[in-house]
This record gives sequence, structure tokens and C-alpha cells, in this order.
Amino acid sequence: MSTDEKLECQCVSRRQVLIGSGVLAASTALMQFGGLLSSAQAKDGSSEKWPWPYVKLDPQKTAELAYQEWYRVFCGGAVISSVFSQLREKVGEPYKSFPVDSFICLEGGMVGWGTLCGSNAGANIASNVIIGPRIAGPECAHGHSIGSDIMQWYCDTPLPAFVPKEPKQPTKIIQTTSASPLCHISVGKWMAESGFALGSPERKDRCARVAASVAYQLVERLNAWKDGTYEPQSEWSPGKTHGIPGQPNCTECHGSDVPKPPMMTKKA
Ligand code: HEC
Repeated sequence: MSTDEKLECQCVSRRQVLIGSGVLAASTALMQFGGLLSSAQAKDGSSEKWPWPYVKLDPQKTAELAYQEWYRVFCGGAVISSVFSQLREKVGEPYKSFPVDSFICLEGGMVGWGTLCGSNAGANIASNVIIGPRIAGPECAHGHSIGSDIMQWYCDTPLPAFVPKEPKQPTKIIQTTSASPLCHISVGKWMAESGFALGSPERKDRCARVAASVAYQLVERLNAWKDGTYEPQSEWSPGKTHGIPGQPNCTECHGSDVPKPPMMTKKA
């Protein structure tokens, strides 16, 4: 059999599976999705509508859920799951249709590239889904602020802050302050100080606890927003002040000679 024929065979068999058993489930899902879209139809005709219904959650319970979920979908997925799994039960749609598990991609600072810690990414996704993106109007700006506040908190706080009720690791997990929202730096500083390697159960439990710590912070802020008492803390907008997106501690990486972005030197 040639390679082409093999490919054709696989396609046919996949189609047959769909026709045979999956088609009913698929069309039901499609109908539900259609219903979701029309119920979320905004006035301007777009299908994006905020806020998504939020009911206040218990930060402690959320953190415990995130801790457990880390071992299934890792940091970013765990933060989103800890909040959305509860809202699926308490609110239902649209949370039931939100593809939580796909955010496993946030692991290791986005598919292992060590960029933004997935916990921070997950918190930003959740706050923007619940409150709205800042471009949706001033009433949605708090989604952005909560994300930024959490990043600031993450930079400044000895992590992990949260200790689970039943830790999966008996070893004492030390805390380190990353001064950065980046996975690479956060994990790197912790590994350097603790002496545990990336693949160690201790490092894994550390990251599970970090995700839980962030989930706790997220829900505390979402609850305050729901009560109307949330005050944004971080006003970091480096694009305006520094001419380049970045984290605040420029000298940690650049030393005393922080480069100026082209626009700031050539045209300003
Ligand atoms: C996490 C480490 C890190 C932090 C924090 C950081 N930078 Fe950078 N930055 C880099 C790296 C790495 C490069 C690319 C190599 C280089 O130029 O040093 C870079 C490049 C730049 C560049 C691009 C062009 C150039 O001349 O090198 C500018 C401008 C810059 N940084 C400004 C800043 C400013 C302003 C801050 C603080 C608001 C900052 N950086 C914070 C790591 C960092």
C-alpha cells in the first residue's frame, strides 16, 4: 500500500467514526454553541459580551482546587480550572462551554518556553473572561487591572505563599521572591536556592503551590470587584513611560546601563 493510500484510509476511517457514533454528540454540541453565541450577542452585533456571570468564591477552596489541578493541567490550566469548574456548577453556561483543558499550553511559561508563568497567564485570562477586556469599555478595565495587580504581587511575594491541607510532598518547600512574572526566572531562582532540579517532585509541588497561591489572590480580587470594593494597585504601563513593554526592574537584567528604545532616543 502506498503512503497516499494509507492517508486516504485514515481519513475515511475517521469520517466513519464521526458518522457512526459521534455525529449526534457533535450536532448537539453545535446547537449548544449556537445557543451560547446568540445569548451572548452584544448590542453591536458582535458575539462578545461581558461580564460573564460571577458569584463570589472561597479563596481557600479555590486554592486547594488549583493545587490538585496542577497535577492534571499544570499552572495556567489549574488557575483557570479552579475558578471555572466552580462557576460551571454555580452558574452553568457559558462556563460549561469554556475549553479549560486547552490552556494546558500555558505550562512552563507557554509550552515550555519559560515566558510568562502560566499562573499569571491563567489569572489574566480568567479575570478578562469574567470582567472583560479593557477595550470593551471602562467598566471592563478591572479585568486588566486585576491581571496587572497579580503580576506585581507575584513579583514581590515570597512564593509559594499557599500551603495545601494535604501536601503531596513532605519535604519543606522553601519560598523565593522572583522579582519577575516570568516562569524562567521564577523557577530558576527557586531551583538555585532550593537545590532541587526541574524534574524533582519538590519543584513540581512548588509550582502547584504557586498556582494555588495565584488562584487565591485572583479570587480575593474578583470577590472585591463583585462587592464594588476593588481598588487597582498596579499602574504599570511601560509603553508610555519607557517606550517598550517590559517588567519594572530594568536593572536586574541590564545592569546600570538600561538601553533606551529607539523612539525615545531618535524622535523624542
Ligand atoms: C528579564 C530581563 C529584562 C528586564 C527586566 C528588562 N529587559 Fe530590556 N532586554 C532584555 C534582553 C535580554 C534584551 C535583548 C538584549 C539586550 O539588548 O540586552 C533586552 C532589550 C531591551 C531593549 C532593546 C534594544 C537594546 O538597545 O538592547 C530595550 C530598549 C530595553 N531592553 C529596555 C528595557 C527597559 C526600559 C526595561 C525596564 C522597564 C527593561 N528593558 C527590562 C532583558 C530585560
